[in-house]
Amino acid sequence: IWVVFLASIGGYLLGSIPFGVVVSRWLGSPDPRLAGSRNVGFTNVLRVGGKKAGILTLVGDIGKGWLVGWIGTLLFHQESAILLVALASIVGHLHSVFLNFKGGKGVATALGAVLGVAPWVGLTLMGIWVGVVLLWKYSSGGALVAFGLFPVVALLFHRSWLFVLFACLVTILIWSKHTDNLVRLWMGTERRIGDRPSDQV
Ligand code: G3P
Repeated sequence: IWVVFLASIGGYLLGSIPFGVVVSRWLGSPDPRLAGSRNVGFTNVLRVGGKKAGILTLVGDIGKGWLVGWIGTLLFHQESAILLVALASIVGHLHSVFLNFKGGKGVATALGAVLGVAPWVGLTLMGIWVGVVLLWKYSSGGALVAFGLFPVVALLFHRSWLFVLFACLVTILIWSKHTDNLVRLWMGTERRIGDRPSDQV
């Protein structure tokens, strides 16, 4: 059991790496915590720092989630252990030890973690995110739809009840981080993906 505990701590620490902040500092672009939506994720780094910073953040955040999920599947046979470690990486991103336990909204990290644990489910969620964003132009909208459907996708892929429970938990985590976005979508004030901020929101 202590191996699972240690692996979860490792997953949490890896998940804590805030690529949005690291990449922005490295490229000399604005700190995403101080501009746009103030979020450290891909969407806001793209918004305030441009394409290169945004893509690097996306790759880093998906990559860390994927790495943790994948290592979990190599280390453990028990699904509960794998899912716990994967969950730890998402919690790390949401409450990063490097950001005074603040963090991002978890979309890219969760996509990565699911890709590592259940690649087809992860690819399906990613497909939904991309599809919705292409059609609707709202990154948050894509995340809300993709993760809203996560438990359903898990059922369609005949995953275990434990996995479906994990999916529900991740859905709740991600939706609860998007309350501001939900209000903005409702009010019609949400920024479309790639739009530059006039500042605020
Ligand atoms: O993944 C975060 C995205 O769904 C919303 O980001 O910066 O528009 O709040 P943001």
